[in-house]
Amino acid sequence: MTAVTAVTVRAPAKVNLLLAVGPVREDGYHDLVNVFHAVSLFDEVTVRRADPGPAGAGEPVIDVHAAAGGLDAHLAGVPRDGDNLAARAARLVAREAGLSEERARVRIRIDKAIPVAGGMAGGSADAAAALLACDALFGAGLDAAALQALAAELGSDVPFPLLGGTAVGTGRGEVLEPVPSRGRFHWVFALSERGLSTPAVFGEYDRLRPDAPQPRGDAALTAALGAGDPPALAAALRNDLEPAALSLRPDLARTLDAGREAGALAGIVSGSGPTCAFLAPDADGAAEVAEALEKSGTCERALTAHGDVPGAETVTPAVS
Ligand code: C5P
Repeated sequence: MTAVTAVTVRAPAKVNLLLAVGPVREDGYHDLVNVFHAVSLFDEVTVRRADPGPAGAGEPVIDVHAAAGGLDAHLAGVPRDGDNLAARAARLVAREAGLSEERARVRIRIDKAIPVAGGMAGGSADAAAALLACDALFGAGLDAAALQALAAELGSDVPFPLLGGTAVGTGRGEVLEPVPSRGRFHWVFALSERGLSTPAVFGEYDRLRPDAPQPRGDAALTAALGAGDPPALAAALRNDLEPAALSLRPDLARTLDAGREAGALAGIVSGSGPTCAFLAPDADGAAEVAEALEKSGTCERALTAHGDVPGAETVTPAVS
């Protein structure tokens, strides 16, 4: 029998169509109503078996590369050690498969197109991809529910890139229910040179909104998605973290203005930022908004993408 020696999985970025944030809980998290929408920016994660070394020899080797369109400047912010979410994912799958430390030794290559610390769940996408890749590589045989449970252990945003499409997350965002979305929505993402820390943005939210109400869903948003209606979706986009992100990064207001002036139907901060997301009327409109944003000098780069797209998928299982 041939053994699988390497598996490549790609996983999508997300934009939050609705991010309704409640008050801080006793465990430090916030209750959310979080409508995730998977978009066509993908990180690729390749996990290959590494030579078994002596016990305790430690950490997986992690190589990080910029995919076409990715920002080189961002790569420095990606952890290269066992703290990387993809490495933590590999350890969890090895634990579930009952593999010894030596037999679970892997090399992980990440080809990044999703901005790092950009509010688009790039690290979570890498973790989701690594879960699927390691499941195949180790022959763990985990079903979708088991993978979702491991994903939730890794982080609030990790279950979504496994599922993809459009979904509402409740609890701390990890309890997912798919939301029907019709047609294709066209987006522009304005990338910032520097990232923002998610805990710092939530902390700023607590400072600005000590009396935050319990988060609620929005029927108008669900209807706009079901109808495939970009103007109605634009009117319903909402991110409660946006004032906090703007408080930490006031320059983003200029980026949002530039995209709106260029013809976007709406512009919002994506998740905890600093990436700004613009909904365009169609593909041509998105290309125009992207060009205008790059010319405006208010962002490092502007990328077009569409949504929704499927969740993490295996690209190549290599055999030897
Ligand atoms: O779950 P995860 O580790 O990805 O969350 C990162 C940080 O984001 C948390 O430490 C917390 O500061 C913040 N967070 C939150 N409420 C959530 C999700 C994340 O406060 N529902």
